[in-house]
Amino acid sequence: MGKLDGKVAVVTGAARGIGRADALLFAGEGASVFVTDVDETPLAEVVKEIRAAGGRADGLPADVTKPEDCQRVMDRAAEQFGTIDILVNNAGLTRDALIHKMTDAQWDICVDISLKGTFNGIRAASKYMMREAHNGRIVNVASVAGLMGNVGQINYSAAKSGLIGLTKTVAREWGRFGVTCNVIAYGFVDTRLTREKEAQQEEVVGEAVGIPKKVRDLMLLQVKPMTPEDAARPVLFLASDDAAFITGQVLNVSAGIYI
Ligand SMILES: NC(=O)c1ccc[n+]([C@@H]2O[C@H](COP(=O)([O-])OP(=O)(O)OC[C@H]3O[C@@H](n4cnc5c(N)ncnc54)[C@H](O)[C@@H]3O)[C@@H](O)[C@H]2O)c1
Repeated sequence: MGKLDGKVAVVTGAARGIGRADALLFAGEGASVFVTDVDETPLAEVVKEIRAAGGRADGLPADVTKPEDCQRVMDRAAEQFGTIDILVNNAGLTRDALIHKMTDAQWDICVDISLKGTFNGIRAASKYMMREAHNGRIVNVASVAGLMGNVGQINYSAAKSGLIGLTKTVAREWGRFGVTCNVIAYGFVDTRLTREKEAQQEEVVGEAVGIPKKVRDLMLLQVKPMTPEDAARPVLFLASDDAAFITGQVLNVSAGIYI
């Protein structure tokens, strides 16, 4: 018996990193998984991988900053698998700069993806989740930067912090449907967002992502980084019946970066 048998889950930003790990873990626990991401090719690979392992999956490329894309994703997921039980708003991007050097574009893209993208996803799923005894699960993805601030991340910290108020509001509005909404604040997960900036060839939406080697080395002196698979386990917990009465909470999954 899987922990998500018979459930339908939508995961955003699922082409790689933590979202991909969520999708694979959920499918292994019996969920039908609908994945979405701006990056079409690696997204299709995730669908293939889940199916090859005997799971149920489908996907659609979409940009979470576009409300119409989010609606298309939710409608297609519900059409394909019958409903939406679980929504993981995982898509995110860093665009780091010190305050005095940050551009409007860097601010906007970060807030649009993490904060507005999450709102877009939840609003688009509302027609499937605002139902009597729905008992759905929403898991949003924040960061310890949203709890403690972070040098060079005023945009990201503000967006991730905003997710906390957003999460609590969904928990209050949809509690009567049995829908829970929680937010995970991750610390240091080994993905392209946290690899050495200097060593990364690939640009993401026109800029390198990652962390300067100096800063990364300092972090490594303090904490053990998580793998995406490690990071997916608390998402499964919040998405499962084990967390049926936990709502409006921030779950700190940071290996002690922020205590
Ligand atoms: N890696 C960490 O240490 C860490 C720490 C705290 C929080 N997080 C958060 O975890 C989440 C996942 O990040 P990750 O580390 O796996 O990074 P990642 O870059 O490996 O994965 C993020 C995915 O989101 C997708 N994405 C970006 N913009 C999108 C958009 N507009 N629409 C749809 N998809 C989009 C990307 O294409 C990518 O596949 C993010 O919200 C991130 O902020 C990560």
